[in-house]
Amino acid sequence: MSNHTKILPGTGRGTSEAGGGAQAISAASDPHLPLHHPSDGPPPPLGEDRRQDFPGLTPGWHYLDTAATAQKPQAVIDATVNAMGRDYATVHRGVYARSADMTLAYEAARRRIAAFIGAKEDQIVFVRGATEAINLVAYSHPRKGRVLLSVLEHHSNIVPWQLAGWQVDVCPLTADGCIDLDAAEKLLTSEHTMVAFAHVSNVLGSPLDVARAAELAHRVGAELLIDGCQAVPRLPVDVAALGCDYYAFSGHKLYGPTGIGVLWSDKLDALPPWQGGGSMIDRVTFAKTAYAPAPTRFEAGTPAIVEALGLAAAVDYVSAMGIDAIHAHECALVGALREQLARKNSITLFGPENSAGIVSFAMAGVHPHDIGTILDESGVAIRAGHHCAQPLMAHLGVPATARASFGLYSNADDVTALIEGLARVERIFG
Ligand SMILES: Cc1ncc(COP(=O)(O)O)c(C=O)c1O
Repeated sequence: MSNHTKILPGTGRGTSEAGGGAQAISAASDPHLPLHHPSDGPPPPLGEDRRQDFPGLTPGWHYLDTAATAQKPQAVIDATVNAMGRDYATVHRGVYARSADMTLAYEAARRRIAAFIGAKEDQIVFVRGATEAINLVAYSHPRKGRVLLSVLEHHSNIVPWQLAGWQVDVCPLTADGCIDLDAAEKLLTSEHTMVAFAHVSNVLGSPLDVARAAELAHRVGAELLIDGCQAVPRLPVDVAALGCDYYAFSGHKLYGPTGIGVLWSDKLDALPPWQGGGSMIDRVTFAKTAYAPAPTRFEAGTPAIVEALGLAAAVDYVSAMGIDAIHAHECALVGALREQLARKNSITLFGPENSAGIVSFAMAGVHPHDIGTILDESGVAIRAGHHCAQPLMAHLGVPATARASFGLYSNADDVTALIEGLARVERIFG
């Protein structure tokens, strides 16, 4: 961190200058630069070759629950250890060098994370995760009216709207489990002020045509919030090009730490603050408080400093691998798994052919929890349950599904182990 100070001539220190000083870091002097640039040539191979970067992936363990939370590369662990130890100090307040350095690193992290999704740094709010991001919009939005959700939404994109007093309408799915945008077009009225859809379903992997959803929402004067939790780790996301109004995601699904996520919007100035406290103010008197501009006015209290630096390291790591390469890698694994599952008479497959990184299925006569427990005995970790999507389970007519989800470290051995494990389940219940 002290190197950081030396290469930043003329940057401000202390409370009021820290943010402006952070902007003075050039890409060349940022100590957290991506490890790999497109100009460096092809990204390193994924799958087996990357397992070595992830200490959580112990030999012989087949982790197929990345949609729940991703394993962390050593680079992220190192970044958080350094931020928590060697470099630790508060941000935005200290008049001493360590705190000013940490402020620079924190704001550099914001820039790197914003750039990863094609955003400007003052358009992203650090939140605890996608859940908090959606709550922020649901509670703070000045035009609470009707919101159109879809059948496949995660509870995080249902319950906040209910709690905040929105009237909820529900868009059906197509036969293969995608949000039916033709139906959305018919359902949307001028009473709708918000549409909130998942970019990728956490159960079915179904990708959304965000541009079309945005066009439909805007046509009736509504805004579009995208729950990007499952998309950001596996698809290239450029919020400026997507056309949505809000985009939410969680850091821990993007190979970063828990306790940090992002709300992006280019309309933050139109939202009033939703939580009050330190940091989010300009001036406080007992008569009246003036708030800081966005995004600061949405970040009340001491921020998740360590987690922000960890997430920036995750973004660097993923950028080094190349998000297009990760997407292609996961698509190949999904294709291979779906093909092998489709050959088993006992298996019902859910979701579209082009599911992004996620495969949900049921086995005739076997509860998904039993599948998960037996697979665990063979070192295969899948998710079994309702996946925080009970309305979708009701729609599918099942209490739960078994779900395998891939990450950049997944490989063909994981698919083989799962298929062999399912054969064992069939033998036990056969
Ligand atoms: C699609 C989707 N939305 C929202 C969430 C909630 O994310 P978090 O619990 O990190 O806030 C998840 C987590 O599983 C998810 O998959």
